[in-house]
This record gives sequence, structure tokens and C-alpha cells, in this order.
Amino acid sequence: MKFVLSTSKLSKRSITNPLAGLVIVLFGTAGLPSVSMSAEPSDWSSIPVTELTLFYPGQSSLEWLMSEAHRSKDKKEKGDEAMAKGVDCFFCHEDDEVAIGNNLVKRGPLEPMPVKGKSGSVKLALQVAYDNDKAYFRAQWKTRNPYPGEAHPFKRFDGKEWKGLGHPKLDKVVQDGKDSAIYEDRFSLLIDDGNVPNYDVHGCWLTCHDGQRDMADKAAKAEVKGHAILGDKGLKKKDVRKYLPSTRNSDNWADTKSRAEIDKIAAAGGFLDLMQWRAHRSNPVGMTDDFNVLEYRLNDAGKGPFSKNWDKQKHQPKYMYDKAKFGSNATRESQIRSKPVALSRELNAVPFDPNLNWQEGDLIPAYFTSREDAKGSAADNREAKGVWKDGMWTVVFSRKFGLTNPDDKNMSPGNAYTIGFAIHDDNITTRGHYVYWPRSVGFGAEKADINAIKVP
Ligand code: HEC
Repeated sequence: MKFVLSTSKLSKRSITNPLAGLVIVLFGTAGLPSVSMSAEPSDWSSIPVTELTLFYPGQSSLEWLMSEAHRSKDKKEKGDEAMAKGVDCFFCHEDDEVAIGNNLVKRGPLEPMPVKGKSGSVKLALQVAYDNDKAYFRAQWKTRNPYPGEAHPFKRFDGKEWKGLGHPKLDKVVQDGKDSAIYEDRFSLLIDDGNVPNYDVHGCWLTCHDGQRDMADKAAKAEVKGHAILGDKGLKKKDVRKYLPSTRNSDNWADTKSRAEIDKIAAAGGFLDLMQWRAHRSNPVGMTDDFNVLEYRLNDAGKGPFSKNWDKQKHQPKYMYDKAKFGSNATRESQIRSKPVALSRELNAVPFDPNLNWQEGDLIPAYFTSREDAKGSAADNREAKGVWKDGMWTVVFSRKFGLTNPDDKNMSPGNAYTIGFAIHDDNITTRGHYVYWPRSVGFGAEKADINAIKVP
């Protein structure tokens, strides 16, 4: 821990790109659409790399950070009091990332269900560029596994019926050895333009609360379903996910403000923009999703790149693999790490046929992607691609400036934005990600922690 009394946040040095000139070979090119990215920097090696050590946060919720538990052992250094005064995390924690990650990834007060063999941190090599129309992000990180985390839960034929197979590694069924660890890798950005109070100092932790999925004091399903705003009569949710404190009257997730008050915050731009590049549910169709965070983690209006592959009436998948394109109508668990298994409506799928000679153990993805079905604000991010080679993901995507949808941050050159970065690696979701303190990213702005480079 460093208590350097300098307000400079610019100490993360830009280093020369160690990966420059790397030849990227697509992991299974079959079915990948050609994504037009004409304006993407033609030479990323000329864009400086900012290396950020993303770390495991466990259950360090905003409520935990604001409590007396957030103090040094001798109680002299008070994280909670500093939080209340709006001191940013970086001020106290710069260079603590590896130590905090290693500590929290083990069993302890902030990690009740540690994942065996999980690393406490991961290095993100980040590059940011822009032109007049778009921001360009390039992210590289090494995966724990010698294969890309491209698989996601499946429907498995058990001889009679199709039932779920696969869960993330923090789930009890996986830790008890009752189900396989299967979940897609992700790279996420959580963005604010200055309209969300304290996001610049508390970052992602502002959205992270007790009561949420996989957090302390997880809310009971019945309680959420009965909740006026979140439940059956409102958003129709069954759990609590990321939300902003501005939408609550106290630090209790259930203590929401009224619908009218929340709508007023939204209209004033007091929400965060959340984009996730997903190895299974968006990458195959060259997209990232587009969400926003306010009283919940909300889908942007319209239709995103993925849907559930399940016909509720018939209790069967909607689509199966097209044998002519995939080689078979289903896959098997023994195959899922050696070839891409994502199902995409227009690339490798045909309507499910219940009359085929299905065998026990046949697998069909529980979700399918579609670029054609994606519409509206949820489909803004149509230029994204990730390739995995030699143990490393390289993800490049663009974000349009000047978006006017009410659920997007309208970004533009000349400004800086606070961004939270996250990586989900090795079959995991929710708190199992690696995160970083809030950083400002400037697109020709006067002052920022990370300066995007202007490209023609
Ligand atoms: C006044 C400085 C200060 C600020 C500002 C601060 N912290 Fe802390 N933080 C501490 C102290 C002191 C500890 C206890 C560390 C120790 O005992 O070694 C701590 C511990 C933590 C831990 C637990 C680490 C572990 O290994 O158990 C996490 C996680 C954490 N802080 C996150 C944050 C985040 C996120 C922010 C910003 C939203 C933040 N802190 C802001 C001082 C601060």
C-alpha cells in the first residue's frame, strides 16, 4: 500500500507493445463473418500499450468498502472513511493489485468458495485509439487454459430429454463435482461520462453490492420476485445484479426509489454504459453486447446478439447445428475444447428436428447468436473480433461516437470518460472476474490517465 500524497494519476507508464508484429491466426475461421473494420488502426504496434494488472475482487462490495472492515489491522488506515470523503482507490492502492488479488482469491472473509488453482491477477495489455467517428479498443491477455474459453452451457440429451450441462466455477454444482465447468470468456467495459456521482473515485465497486448474485447475503428469489420495481410487477427479475446507489434510499438493495425517481435519473444521464465482448455469445457474429446499469443491469432497447436456444412449449432446443456446416447436428463434451462450438442462427444452425436419432450425451448450445436478429440500441456494437492464439486473446472492438440512444453514453472526441475494465477467464462469471480501479480514458482530452491515440 502506498500513501503517496500526489494527486497525479498518471503514473501507469505506457510501455512499448511487446506483442507488436504478432501474426494472429483465427481460432477456427469456419463461420466467422467478415467484419468490416475499415477505420480500425492499420498498425496497432504504433499505439502505446498500457499494462494494467487486473485483480480478483472476491466479495468486496461497496457496503464492505464503506464498513469498518475496510481498514488496516491496526485500524489506523481507514479505507471506509476515505471512501466517504471521495478519495479514489488508486490513491491508496496503486501497486497493490497482485497482493490484493492473491489474498482475495483464497478462502477468507471476502471469498467463501475459492476456485482451485485460480490466479489472483491477470495482466491486461490495453491500447486505445480513435478517429472522428469511433473509439477503438484492443485488449490482450493470457488465458489460464491452453484453449480459448469459447464454450458456454449446453443442452444435453440424456436419452429421453434435453437438460442443462455446464455451470461457472463458483457454482456449488461444479465445486461439488456434479456438473462441468463451462462458461465463456469475456472482456467488459463499464463507462461513465461524469454524470454518475462517485464513479470516478469508486469505479465498478459503485455497482457491486451485497444481495447480488454470488455476493454476501444473496437476495432470495421470492423476495426479488415480490419486489415492486425489480419483481414480477416490474422488471420481472429473479435476482439482484449491478445497480447504482443513486437508485436506492439506503444501502439495502430492496430499498429502491420510486419508478418515477429512477426514470428521472435515467433521463439526466445518471446511468453507466456496459459493453461485454463475449467469446461464445457475441464474438462469432463480430459483436459485443450493449447494456446499461441503473437500478439493475439492463439490456439496451432492441435486441442484442444472443438468445436462449430453448423452446419452452416443446421442451427442446430451437436450433441445432447444420450438419453440412458443422459436421454433425450436435457436439460431445469430449470435443468442446478442440473446436469452436458456438451456434449462430445464420452461420451454422438449422431448426431443431426432434426426430433425428439423438444419442445420450449429444450437446447443443443453450444459446445462439445472430447478427441479423440484433436490432436497435442493443445492437450498436457491430465491430468486434477476438482471436485466440498461443494462449492469448486479442480482442479489438470499436464504439461509435455521437450515439443518441437514451440508454447510451454519447461519447465524443475532446472528452475523457471513466472506464472500469474486467476480464472473465476460465469458466467463470459474476465476482470471479478480474477488475481494476477506475481510470479515465481521454480521446484528445486535456487530462486523462490513459490517452487514446488519434488515427487518420
Ligand atoms: C485511505 C486509503 C484507502 C482508500 C481510498 C481505499 N482503500 Fe481499500 N484498503 C485500505 C486499507 C488500509 C486496507 C486494509 C489493507 C491491509 O490491511 O493491508 C484496504 C483493503 C482493501 C481491500 C481488501 C484487501 C485484502 O487483501 O484483504 C480491498 C478489496 C480494497 N481495499 C479495495 C478498495 C477499493 C476498490 C477502493 C476504492 C473504491 C479502496 N479500497 C479505497 C485503504 C484504502
